[in-house]
Amino acid sequence: MTSKVGATECFVYITLPGETAFVTAGKFVLEPDRTGISVGRFVYGRSYLERREAVPFDPVELKLSRTTYRTTALKGVFGALRDAGPDYWGRRVIEKHAGRPQLGELDYLLYAPDDRAGALGFGLGPEPPAPKRDFNKTLDLEKLLRLAEAIIADEDVPQGPEEEQVEDLMLIGTSMGGARPKAVVEDDDGLWIAKFNRPDDKWNHARVEHAMLVLARACGIQSAESRIVTAGDRDVLLVKRFDRERTASGYLRARMISGLTLLRTEDTHQHRDRWSYLLMAEELRRISADPQQDAIELFRRMCFNGLISNIDDHPRNHAIIAKDKDWKLAPAYDLTPSMPISLERRDLALSCGDLGRYAHTENLLSQCARFSLKREEACSLIDEMEWRIAATWYETARREGVSEQDCEKIKTAFVYPGFRLDLGE
Ligand SMILES: Nc1ncnc2c1ncn2[C@@H]1O[C@H](COP(=O)(O)OP(=O)(O)OP(=O)(O)O)[C@@H](O)[C@H]1O
Ligand SMILES: [Mg+2]
Repeated sequence: MTSKVGATECFVYITLPGETAFVTAGKFVLEPDRTGISVGRFVYGRSYLERREAVPFDPVELKLSRTTYRTTALKGVFGALRDAGPDYWGRRVIEKHAGRPQLGELDYLLYAPDDRAGALGFGLGPEPPAPKRDFNKTLDLEKLLRLAEAIIADEDVPQGPEEEQVEDLMLIGTSMGGARPKAVVEDDDGLWIAKFNRPDDKWNHARVEHAMLVLARACGIQSAESRIVTAGDRDVLLVKRFDRERTASGYLRARMISGLTLLRTEDTHQHRDRWSYLLMAEELRRISADPQQDAIELFRRMCFNGLISNIDDHPRNHAIIAKDKDWKLAPAYDLTPSMPISLERRDLALSCGDLGRYAHTENLLSQCARFSLKREEACSLIDEMEWRIAATWYETARREGVSEQDCEKIKTAFVYPGFRLDLGE
């Protein structure tokens, strides 16, 4: 980690497929132009381009080339780089750590520790740092949880030699994206994202999210592996990192970019016209090593999200990864049911058919060919999934430790009436 704040350039490192240490891949410069707009420039280093094993950061924007890439999108930070940086939660912890309310975009990349999603790293030196050796152990969860709660409550983080050390520990994990409190921890099986419940949660999110990952798997979806552990008297969700693989010589890292980068779009509302499962299927067709399988998998996830009212399925909650040279859809993660008041119409975050974002069976079916499915195939896939979710969500949730009261709170999320509403055509 570096403590230099206000940097305008940095080196970008990458862990190549099959390797466990970084090599320097290029240089990123982020500066305002004369009108004050942030302009990012990235160039791959010549020695990197000369490597036979060199791979591009992403398959859409930063292809291997001598070009100096330039962008003003995403405040000048290329999508593949932005995806390796923290979001709301990590930024908040870093700001707390730095004692400043806001930092520059490059600072967030440099400040965040080396356990970020994907295979990239950032630093001020032309030589990359050695691989990180120490991760938080799952045993530290209780301490991490207490710190997360202090940060949520906007309390001062306790100071003192031991606490400082713990605070540094807390920074491990802040480079992951997302808004919910989390940290990265290690056990004998490898690295996990520990997702904490918030004191203001209306139900036990850790247990419910775990149950949804299990339910998704029962519906034929490849979802991230997860389990629940308790820290003190609190439940914590551990989600196995699918972008890391532990080996005797260290961690292999998969490259990873978000759906936002894949769709060449941004978080803001002006860019929502590209928030679309149909466009995502199209992009996957272009870049996936197994486009047909990925298209059907994406279709399943879109229907599953509709059937559990997961309306938080925004583009950063989808990703593609490359363990070696080939890209494919990453396992499903961050699956959360919601209970909007409307029983007639619920909208997913991404457009899913001719009727836009409406989670309605006809809408989901309307463009099924773009997901490599014939109408009959798509119909039976939805019928089977709808049946399975209606028949098993409750027993799945209970079996995975969701309380009776919480099941009562979330029950209207599943197979809501509007999914089959008669559209009167
Ligand atoms: N199992 C995993 N392996 C590797 N990376 C992951 C995994 N799960 C999530 N991620 C990455 O971490 C980010 C944050 O995770 P997640 O979406 O679960 O958190 P969140 O705080 O609930 O997000 P949100 O802000 O969407 O509610 C994801 O956007 C993704 O980049
Ligand atoms: Mg998320």
